[in-house]
Amino acid sequence: MSEYPSISNQVEDIDALREEGQQKMSWARQHMPIIEHLREDYRSNQPFEGYTIGMAMHVEAKTAVLVELLAEGGAEVAITGCNPLSTHDDVSVALDSHPSITSYARHGAEDEDYYAAIDAVLSHSPEITIDDGMDMVAAVHEDHPELIDTIIGGAEETTTGVHRLRAMDEDGELNYPVFAVNDTPMKRLFDNIHGTGESSLANIAMTTNLSFAGKTVVVGGYGYCGKGVAKKAAGQNAHVIVTEVEPRRALEAHMEGYEVMPMNEAAAKGDIFITTTGNRDVITEDDFEQLRDGAVLANAGHFDVEIDLDTLSDMAADQYTAREGVEAYEMPDGRRINVLAEGRLVNLASPVSLGHPAEVMDQSFAIQAVCVRELIEHGDKYEPGVHDVPDRLDQEIAEIKLDAEGVDIDTLTDTQQEYLDSWDHGT
Ligand code: NAI
Repeated sequence: MSEYPSISNQVEDIDALREEGQQKMSWARQHMPIIEHLREDYRSNQPFEGYTIGMAMHVEAKTAVLVELLAEGGAEVAITGCNPLSTHDDVSVALDSHPSITSYARHGAEDEDYYAAIDAVLSHSPEITIDDGMDMVAAVHEDHPELIDTIIGGAEETTTGVHRLRAMDEDGELNYPVFAVNDTPMKRLFDNIHGTGESSLANIAMTTNLSFAGKTVVVGGYGYCGKGVAKKAAGQNAHVIVTEVEPRRALEAHMEGYEVMPMNEAAAKGDIFITTTGNRDVITEDDFEQLRDGAVLANAGHFDVEIDLDTLSDMAADQYTAREGVEAYEMPDGRRINVLAEGRLVNLASPVSLGHPAEVMDQSFAIQAVCVRELIEHGDKYEPGVHDVPDRLDQEIAEIKLDAEGVDIDTLTDTQQEYLDSWDHGT
């Protein structure tokens, strides 16, 4: 086992932190009915008994409810963060106090500690990995290939992680099966769209104490996250401009009634910018030249590479903290450009951030839980590589959610099913 200390051995005032963390978890639990449903089943059936699960995720209350579910289903769980700024230390301590859970996540961990903590999780020799961004799968393959023989499989939470995994798979370098949790309807159509939309705007509003109404909001990328951000910003009476590189996505945005233009044009018009591309260098030097005084820049994509902060810093005559979570870059001509949360994903890394709403994470994390169950029950069916989550699992979670919401739906009759399955009913 690694000598790297768990969070409880890194911070002071453990009792108070644990209590605060448990309070946050208790609130989240009350709003996660799917996980609650699975909990009853897993507590009695212990599907994860004897298995160790290693996780690198945003360590906050909803994630903690998932971790607790896995532990209550019999697993030993070791967890660390997947972003140095998104960890809530109180939640991390609360998790660490559970007899079957070790948490190494600490808010503000420097690079060296961030990777040492991933290493520490791997020192538990997990049979299952759960990632948000693929840092753990990368660490297994690069630093601990000896674990691959005993790893049954993994699950990946976000678009960027799935992109990285697919690239690794195409290069023939991914040596165990990983479920693309991000790509299921129950995750992507809710978490990426509504979760990112609501929580990014909420955190920008709280971090800046500014309104969206009457402002021009520029959304970089019109994928699942961008659609949510654009829709919710328009819903708060902002004028929305979308930038894209993919013609069909650009056209979709145009047909939704948004203005679509290149970033360099939008740069001169926007008040608030939110990047959601999963790509790098979306707002760069030429755009900084165009920005208006007071422009606010935020990123909701997974990594902090969408806004070219190194160049902005080089261009600025002065740089200072304008408000907690807001770094102002003053340009030689006097314009101030305000960057939120160091360009890291704003809904999770700004000082007041709480991540997505609990109801949304209930769905995403329930998919994670059933994927772990699938790997343990049927792991030998899956070859190394990226796998779609079986549709029956996604449907199972949708049915539990509908039931929890008290929503009934119709059922196909045999005749309807036969009609849908047939090809010989023409005009
Ligand atoms: P997506 O693939 O559906 O959308 C990305 C869009 O950005 C695509 O339409 C693509 O054409 C466009 N794009 C790429 N490069 C661009 C550029 N230079 N300029 C303008 N547009 C560009 O991906 P999705 O699901 O929307 O995820 C986006 C990012 O958000 C990923 O990094 C993902 O991991 C992250 N994410 C963040 C969450 C959060 O809580 N903040 C939650 C879920 C995902």
